[in-house]
Amino acid sequence: MRLVLERVSCGYGGAPVLRDLSLQVRSGEVVCLLGRNGAGKTTVLKAILGLVRPVTGRIALDGQALTRLPPYRIPLLGLGYVPQGRRLFPELTVEENLRLGLRLSRGGPWTLARVCELFPVIGERLRQPAGLLSGGEQQMVAIARALCTNPRFLLLDEPLEGLMPLVAQRVLATLGSLAREGMGLLLVEQKVKAALAVADTVLVLEAGRLCFAGSRQEVPRPEALIPYLGARR
Ligand SMILES: Nc1ncnc2c1ncn2[C@@H]1O[C@H](COP(=O)(O)OP(=O)(O)OP(=O)(O)O)[C@@H](O)[C@H]1O
Ligand SMILES: [Mg+2]
Repeated sequence: MRLVLERVSCGYGGAPVLRDLSLQVRSGEVVCLLGRNGAGKTTVLKAILGLVRPVTGRIALDGQALTRLPPYRIPLLGLGYVPQGRRLFPELTVEENLRLGLRLSRGGPWTLARVCELFPVIGERLRQPAGLLSGGEQQMVAIARALCTNPRFLLLDEPLEGLMPLVAQRVLATLGSLAREGMGLLLVEQKVKAALAVADTVLVLEAGRLCFAGSRQEVPRPEALIPYLGARR
C-alpha cells in the first residue's frame, strides 16, 4: 500500500504553508520528516488527516483520494495519528483514552493487553486520569492509543519529546518492528540521530518545500543535515 501526496499546496486562511509538496510512504517503510520550527511538518500530517484542506494537489491512500473525505472517515481507512503534544483527554482515565483508540480499530494485533505489554507503566495506571501521568508517560499513552486503532499507516508528530533516553530507545525499536510487520510510518522528529536510526527515507522540509529527500544511506552523517535544521538537531 502507498500513502501519496502529489504536489500539495495548502495553508491557513489564505496564507500558504506547504508549496507543491510531493512525498510517499509505502507499507513497511519509515519515512522521517525533519525541519525547523514552523517549516510545516505538522501541517503535512494535518493535510493527510483532512484537518487542513489542500488548495491544489492530491492526497491518496492506495489510489483512493482522501482529499474530499470528511476528516472523521480518514482514520477509519487505517491512518493512525500521534499528535504533537499528545492531546489526551486529561480527565478521562488512561484506559478510557485507550478505548477511544480501540473504538476506531479495524481489528488487528493491537489490544489493550498488548499495549500494556509494550509499555508496562500503562498497565499500572489504567484507572488513573491521564492528566495525572508524567509527560513521558502521557506520550506512551498517546502512542498506545494510536496503536489501538490498528492502523496501516501511523503518523507520529515528535513522539520522542519528553521521553527519557531509555524509553525513547524502546519506542524507536517498537517503531522499527511495526515497520517490519508491514506498517507504514511517517515520523516527524527533531531528534535527528534517533530518527536516522529507524528511517528508510529522510525528508527535510524548509518553509513548506522539500529541500532534501533521500534514503538513509544517502545521508552521510547526521551532521550533514544540521545546516537545513538551524539550531535543531
Ligand atoms: N492553525 C493555524 N493557523 C494559522 N497559522 C498556522 C496554524 N497552524 C500552523 N500555522 C503556521 O503554519 C506554519 C507551519 O506550522 P507547522 O505547525 O506545520 O510547523 P512545524 O514544522 O510543525 O513546527 P514545530 O517544529 O514548531 O512543531 C507556521 O508558520 C505556523 O505559524
Ligand atoms: Mg509541529
